[in-house]
Amino acid sequence: MNDIRPESLERITNQALANKFIDEQVKALKEQIKDDKVLLALSGGVDSSVTAALLIKAIGKNLVCVHVNHGLLRKNESEQVINTFKNELGATLIYVDAVDRFLDKLANVSDPEQKRKVIGKEFIDVFAEEARKLSGIKFLAQGTIYPDILESKGIKAHHNVGGLPEDLNFELVEPVKYLYKDEVRQVGLALGLKEEMVFRQPFPGPGLGVRCPGAITRDRLEIVRESDAILREEFAKCGLSKKVWQYFTIVPDYRSTGIKDNKRTYDYFVVLRAVNSVDATSATVEEIPYDILFKIRDRILSEVQGVNRVLVDISPKPIATIEWE
Ligand code: XMP
Repeated sequence: MNDIRPESLERITNQALANKFIDEQVKALKEQIKDDKVLLALSGGVDSSVTAALLIKAIGKNLVCVHVNHGLLRKNESEQVINTFKNELGATLIYVDAVDRFLDKLANVSDPEQKRKVIGKEFIDVFAEEARKLSGIKFLAQGTIYPDILESKGIKAHHNVGGLPEDLNFELVEPVKYLYKDEVRQVGLALGLKEEMVFRQPFPGPGLGVRCPGAITRDRLEIVRESDAILREEFAKCGLSKKVWQYFTIVPDYRSTGIKDNKRTYDYFVVLRAVNSVDATSATVEEIPYDILFKIRDRILSEVQGVNRVLVDISPKPIATIEWE
């Protein structure tokens, strides 16, 4: 397969060029796919979302999207994917609730790489099972983008479903594989996807799983999910969500004492992390004003059960990494 960006492909820097790309791709996709069906694992990330929107424009209902909820997604994330793709864009979408399955497999797995392996393998298994239930599907679409090809063995390896069993034997469709991230975003906007989807902050494939350092437990996962939602809400209110590259919360497997209603507590703590970066190879720490920090702290301590402290991680990359594991 030719994996070098064609020289004839102009850099997509505005909406007119994005529209031109879309017209050409829609035509090419129609010619390639004809009346056959295409399967796509739709996580809700920018790349798979833009790929889905492009294919819906080209082949409509013949695109079959599979959204796997592995229990490590952010608050309301699955609902948003269903709302955008099924309700608004009319896509064929299969929702797979695999929450218990993933969390059962992850119980007592504390090594970070092992966690990633379990999540990656389980994802392939779930997706392959869904693929087998459907018949007559010839193609598999993937939201591969040009940096994935350049990195080739990039961190997103588990994201693409390249590890599918060979008997499934799909032909690949990768309509945005020569595009850089900013171009994928231009195309997403031109296709009518919402800004909040197109300019989403990076979110790792293993999701909230890497934000529960150590073995994932349902109680800590719930705390991560709720505190992350509060952080995102407050950052959106004060405009920081447009400025900061990546921001999230972490809940380590450690408890400390506190006091509430005159009673001693022994609860978890939430760590806030907000960093700026260009390509994730290095990162600086965002200086969050104290009034905003205090507001977030107050909300987390009053709204999230089982937390008695809020800390801020001020470590740059290097020496720290962006995620905790
Ligand atoms: P680190 O923690 O290595 O992260 O500084 C750099 C960027 O990559 C994201 N990240 C991942 N993305 N699968 C992904 O798709 C992963 O396993 C993974 N681990 C880290 C991280 O969120 C940051 O944007």
